[in-house]
Amino acid sequence: MRIAPSILSADFSRLASEIERVERAGAQQLHVDVMDGHYVPNLTFGPMLVEAMRRSTRLPLDVHLMIEDADRWIGAFADAGADMIAFHPESVYHPHLVLTSIQKRGKKAGLALNPGLSLASVEELLPLADYAIVMSVNPGWGGQDFIEGSFERAENLRRFARENHLTLDIEIDGGMNAERVPRAALAGIDVVIAGSAIFKAKDPEAAVRQMLSSVPV
Ligand code: DX5
Ligand code: ZN
Repeated sequence: MRIAPSILSADFSRLASEIERVERAGAQQLHVDVMDGHYVPNLTFGPMLVEAMRRSTRLPLDVHLMIEDADRWIGAFADAGADMIAFHPESVYHPHLVLTSIQKRGKKAGLALNPGLSLASVEELLPLADYAIVMSVNPGWGGQDFIEGSFERAENLRRFARENHLTLDIEIDGGMNAERVPRAALAGIDVVIAGSAIFKAKDPEAAVRQMLSSVPV
């Protein structure tokens, strides 16, 4: 299991050193929350920040698009240095096409699945995706409470992937902390994303280490 700090909760005035700390602690990828003030009420950052991050780390950058017209932005984020790009399937008219357009640029393509989304509605898309993000909060802000039932959703997804012989990485996003890591492992989750539990902790490095050591062997 990998730990992916979400920079949404980092101190942006010294982002490079925030990244360096979690990288030093053993985090294996970085999660970048892109919000446009339309698909979600909050507004964050664009490709320029991804480009700046690309210059300060070698960790894979997982760009989570919470925007309208996600398809229009794939090229810009790919060029900026994203390694993985995920979008919300209901936010675009042609999710099948968006998945393939991400992959055509040599990037991993992900589906971000809101708590209210029926998993059955994405069964035709999952065989194409490289990964899925199970949202354990509604998208828009860091620091929200974990929504109960999210691990069971991840388990259903894992079962679907196994039964259909899919290679699918499953990530969980929202309200995660070290205490929830063992349950996430049990659910077959590959990547735990955490923002406030890491960057709002007194010692973000120790927080990452604690999450990593909570992974059952
Ligand atoms: C929520 C974002 C998350 C967020 C998680 O819209 O997708 O990635 O950063 O933050 P925490 O871990 O604080 O719930
Ligand atoms: Zn996210």
